[in-house]
Amino acid sequence: MLLAAVIAIPLGLDLYLPAPEDNPLTTQKIELGRRLFFDRRLSRDQTISCATCHDPVRAFSDGRAVAAGVFGRIGRRNSPALINRGYGRAFFWDGHVKTLEEQVLQPIQDPNEMDLTLAEASTRTGLSIAEISHALASFVRSILSGDSSYDRFLNGDRAALNAEQQLGLQVFRGKGNCTSCHVGPNFTDEQLHNTGVAWRDGKLADLGAGKGNFKTPTLREVSRTAPYMYDGSLATLEDVIEFYDKGGRANPNLDSEIHSLRLAANEKRALAAFLRSLTRF
Ligand code: HEC
Ligand code: HEC
Repeated sequence: MLLAAVIAIPLGLDLYLPAPEDNPLTTQKIELGRRLFFDRRLSRDQTISCATCHDPVRAFSDGRAVAAGVFGRIGRRNSPALINRGYGRAFFWDGHVKTLEEQVLQPIQDPNEMDLTLAEASTRTGLSIAEISHALASFVRSILSGDSSYDRFLNGDRAALNAEQQLGLQVFRGKGNCTSCHVGPNFTDEQLHNTGVAWRDGKLADLGAGKGNFKTPTLREVSRTAPYMYDGSLATLEDVIEFYDKGGRANPNLDSEIHSLRLAANEKRALAAFLRSLTRF
């Protein structure tokens, strides 16, 4: 029954949840994946589980600028929210991994995250590597968000967004040009763009997918996933809006869709209010 409960959430998304042919969703796999997601045995010193960095209370992010793994080792990038990732086509901030089955095995092996070999993970859990991968990927697919005030507004409930949030939606689609990248039911084109976040002191602090390009993240649940951007360098949604208002950070490969916006103070406030409406509860 769990599967039905998870999938029957009114999403404002296509109810069909894609999964690869060799790993169809089953309640058993989602349940096993959920247990593994919270299992600290998957880390070298048994102090870190997936949920340490992907906390359900924070829409499966961690509130830190960059991730901290075993033995206090600090990574390079911000732990992304895991929301509606079953609809994703590219994983990691630089999009270099193409399937969730492959993705979920990487943090286990990353020396800055869990630092375990797959053979050790298999011995500790008594499961094959394929079982671990399939179960974790299935659990990640079951993490869904929809039915926000914004979705109810789109579905005809005109009172679901107040006047300020409606102005914010207008700015988001119009003057703000946000929908040129944050598009569709998941607010992402799943493409790579240079917004200038990585440009520091005349050079790129992180190449991302090359030339400072990073994947457009979803904006669902975004009010719960601060701090923002691949490096967690922007603390609040207001900071993010100021960043875009100034035209990102100028650099040789800045995306052509990023330019200064000259938003009025009330438009910035409205945009922030709109972004806060993308939360399910
Ligand atoms: C130490 C913190 C940490 C732990 C532990 C961790 N992650 Fe992550 N996770 C991250 C960071 C940081 C990224 C982004 C890394 C990058 O893009 O270079 C990420 C990325 C992801 C993504 C890709 C999301 C996307 O939209 O691209 C998924 C899925 C994911 N993690 C699932 C898991 C699972 C499953 C586990 C447990 C097996 C796990 N993570 C353990 C920090 C962590
Ligand atoms: C050219 C494509 C593009 C446009 C236009 C764009 N974004 Fe983004 N957005 C991105 C990318 C790519 C990232 C990740 C950048 C990074 O970390 O370096 C991002 C990150 C964000 C984040 C941080 C989310 C997180 O989880 O860290 C927010 C919030 C956001 N954008 C909101 C907006 C708003 C609001 C607008 C319009 C004013 C906008 N974006 C316009 C591509 C775009």
